[in-house]
Amino acid sequence: MKVFSWSASIEVNPPYEAREFKRSVMKNQPTESSGPVVSRRAFLKQSTMAAATAAAAVSFPAVVRAQAKPTLNAVVIGLGGRGAGAGNDFLEAAKIVGVEARIVAVADIFPEQARRGRELYGLAEDKCFSGFDAYLRALDQPGVNYAILAEPPGFRPVHFKACVARGLHVFMEKPVAVDGPGCRMMYAAGEEAQRKGLKVAAGTQRRHQASYIETIRRIWDGVIGEITAFRAYWVNGGPIWHRGDRGDTDLERQIRNWYHYIWLSGDHIVEQHVHNIDVCNWIMRDHPIRAWGMGARQQLGDKSGEIWDNFAVEFEYRNGVRMHSYCGQIKRSWASVSEAVVGTKGTADPSGMIRVHGQKPERIRPEGRNPYVQEHVDLIEAIVKERELNETKNVTDSTLTAIMGREAAYSGAAVQWDDILKSDFKYGPDLVYEESAKMTWGAFRTLKPPMPGVHDIFRNPPSVPTA
Ligand SMILES: NC(=O)c1ccc[n+]([C@@H]2O[C@H](COP(=O)([O-])OP(=O)(O)OC[C@H]3O[C@@H](n4cnc5c(N)ncnc54)[C@H](O)[C@@H]3O)[C@@H](O)[C@H]2O)c1
Repeated sequence: MKVFSWSASIEVNPPYEAREFKRSVMKNQPTESSGPVVSRRAFLKQSTMAAATAAAAVSFPAVVRAQAKPTLNAVVIGLGGRGAGAGNDFLEAAKIVGVEARIVAVADIFPEQARRGRELYGLAEDKCFSGFDAYLRALDQPGVNYAILAEPPGFRPVHFKACVARGLHVFMEKPVAVDGPGCRMMYAAGEEAQRKGLKVAAGTQRRHQASYIETIRRIWDGVIGEITAFRAYWVNGGPIWHRGDRGDTDLERQIRNWYHYIWLSGDHIVEQHVHNIDVCNWIMRDHPIRAWGMGARQQLGDKSGEIWDNFAVEFEYRNGVRMHSYCGQIKRSWASVSEAVVGTKGTADPSGMIRVHGQKPERIRPEGRNPYVQEHVDLIEAIVKERELNETKNVTDSTLTAIMGREAAYSGAAVQWDDILKSDFKYGPDLVYEESAKMTWGAFRTLKPPMPGVHDIFRNPPSVPTA
């Protein structure tokens, strides 16, 4: 097995996230091997949605089952930095598993992005779809059985639902929604995928990274005692990209610069920090039940957009354990993308370090592949070997955790899980939650960056254009 090298992986990822990985997470990567390699299969089983009942009702897609050598026909929805990378990761993973695979169509809202499918995957021009309905036209190509979703997260619930309705296996990037209504769509579609026997993997790649898997197994075995607290960081040393205000309509300007609009990205705490929050939820095998916190828009200044550039949120799990979460994209002299776990007998960095009180720190570095490829290996193996894999609930729980923290900080009030789960406020246009294919380019509100004490999606939801 090839040992994963971070420097090889970063070129397939968009610069902003990859750079941050190299700069900060990678400092925490172990440098020498120790500790046994855990059975990935056994471990993944524990970390995916349990649904033994559905196993009996598995309706394995005929297109895969009927062939001695199954061919995976994939489409990529959202052909930006990550979509292009994930397409290549899928093709590499298929080779590793020994399955024939090809990308048969791509879809992107913008034609120039969609056309990249020609160079990237050798597609004919008429297989590179663009527009709001491009995802449906790509998904409806004959023989499609695998979808890769890498569009902005605001569109993910409606796109995922369309994939499940068509009986497709799905790899989807994180986060998977930006608000309560979107998360409820994800939970429902994830359950439907389970009933249909579809396999679903999410872009929370740490769950497919050998050093995390092994360190977390050791934490679960009790090596650092009972868990008393977590710390989760996505603290950058610089601003996120800002692509300016290009386009003739509000929707075009917002979608081209999607990171800066809450209905498209969910804001930084949801869009990127979900990774670190997800690690804590994975270790706890649960999600927090309440959150309170603060944050601000300090350095984005009067650039266009709605989002904040830093958050500090405290989350509480139902057993009282707290997660202290910090994320930010502002210039500062330190940066760290990492998690830490505090236990009664020691501490751990779940990316590969255990420190038991009174003992020498132990690095955990089992052999493992690039997790961006491994997540497709795990998905493809689940498909061809008919193994359980549905990460929808895990990634939706972590997405909603981050949304709960965001709303707590935005409003300046504590927010409970049940309230955010049931919340009705939709950040996006109604059609994004129904049939985004029917959208047309036009006007849409821009919110003022949320102000604590004013912004309150429960009691006084924003309702009018404010810019
Ligand atoms: N797991 C990871 O480490 C990782 C790394 C980077 C990005 N991501 C995730 O991947 C997703 C995309 O991020 P990116 O960096 O590739 O962004 P990007 O801007 O480079 O690409 C997004 C693409 O989606 C297209 N798009 C927008 N609306 C669309 C729609 N309705 N239908 C089809 N296409 C649409 C855009 O035109 C663009 O080409 C995000 O959810 C992000 O969080 C994950």
